[in-house]
Amino acid sequence: MLCLAPGDDLAAAWELARRTGVASLGHLLERFPALPEGSLLVGLGDGAGRLSALTVVEALPWDTSIFGMAMGMIPSLEVGPLGSGERLARAAVDEAIRRGFRHLSARAQVEDRGSLWALEAAGFRAMDVVVELQREAGGESAVPVGQAIDPAHPDDLPALEALSATAFERSRYFADPALPREASEELHRRWIANDCRGRAAVVLVARDGRAPIGYIACLLRDDNGVIDLIAVQPEARGRQVGRALCAAALDWFRTRCRKIVVRTQIHNLRAIAMYQTFGFRIAAAQMTLHRSQRG
Ligand SMILES: CC(C)(COP(=O)(O)OP(=O)(O)OC[C@H]1O[C@@H](n2cnc3c(N)ncnc32)[C@H](O)[C@@H]1OP(=O)(O)O)[C@@H](O)C(=O)NCCC(=O)NCCS
Repeated sequence: MLCLAPGDDLAAAWELARRTGVASLGHLLERFPALPEGSLLVGLGDGAGRLSALTVVEALPWDTSIFGMAMGMIPSLEVGPLGSGERLARAAVDEAIRRGFRHLSARAQVEDRGSLWALEAAGFRAMDVVVELQREAGGESAVPVGQAIDPAHPDDLPALEALSATAFERSRYFADPALPREASEELHRRWIANDCRGRAAVVLVARDGRAPIGYIACLLRDDNGVIDLIAVQPEARGRQVGRALCAAALDWFRTRCRKIVVRTQIHNLRAIAMYQTFGFRIAAAQMTLHRSQRG
């Protein structure tokens, strides 16, 4: 087994990956030109000096600080024709636990049963399926008249935090019995606070009078616009506020990016129906799995 930590020279892994000729092993390394602090790279050999499978356990410092235990993410298992996903997943888990990780998340495309079954064999359990929807940024958006929407100002933050705390109960954090509910609420409060403090390019707020009743947070990433978060107060749902926020965001994105991307849980039927009426189409589906280490 090959196990590298930050500071180690990744050249050995590059060389082994190059010799296999399996493109996905190289692609994974390309995404991690240097390993982030606390992260690990775990690879398996094929007995003939070549790499047969490779993964990264990425440290999640933000989640770690909120949940109070070392948390990591396996973004993908890359397995060559001679490799074993199950052996790789088990090796990554063993090494991560040895280095103090207490909670791991992992992602795999829904159609990639090899990875999903390997993760299950290594003790991971399904938490949610996330779909990514996309549309071109150009075209009409038709912001409805009659709904006041303007950029967030600092006074809005307590109301936006309160709304965020419970709006995303379909997410993997709330689904996982190993993660305390109060901490998951806190994570979503901090998420919108960070968006308001500059992570988002703009946060648009829908109002009843001056009081916020919903918001949409828009990011710009490379050439893409990203709808990072959208939420409407429970009492105001079903009254076209979400639609008005979406339309305002599309208007804002129109001249700033080429494509707009949004991710949500596949069982968030209301949100998916809303995005589809704006011409978004589902482009990919990924399963998220978690594994927590007791003790
Ligand atoms: C998703 C959310 C933002 C939608 O806001 P909303 O104000 O309730 O939505 P609207 O009233 O504007 O309805 C927009 C569309 O959603 C769909 N919709 C609304 N209510 C629905 C329901 N009960 N069932 C199915 N679809 C529904 C419809 O397509 C509707 O368009 P239409 O009225 O033209 O048919 C809101 O439900 C919410 O805050 N949910 C919790 C947070 C969340 O899940 N965010 C999305 C994560 S990315």
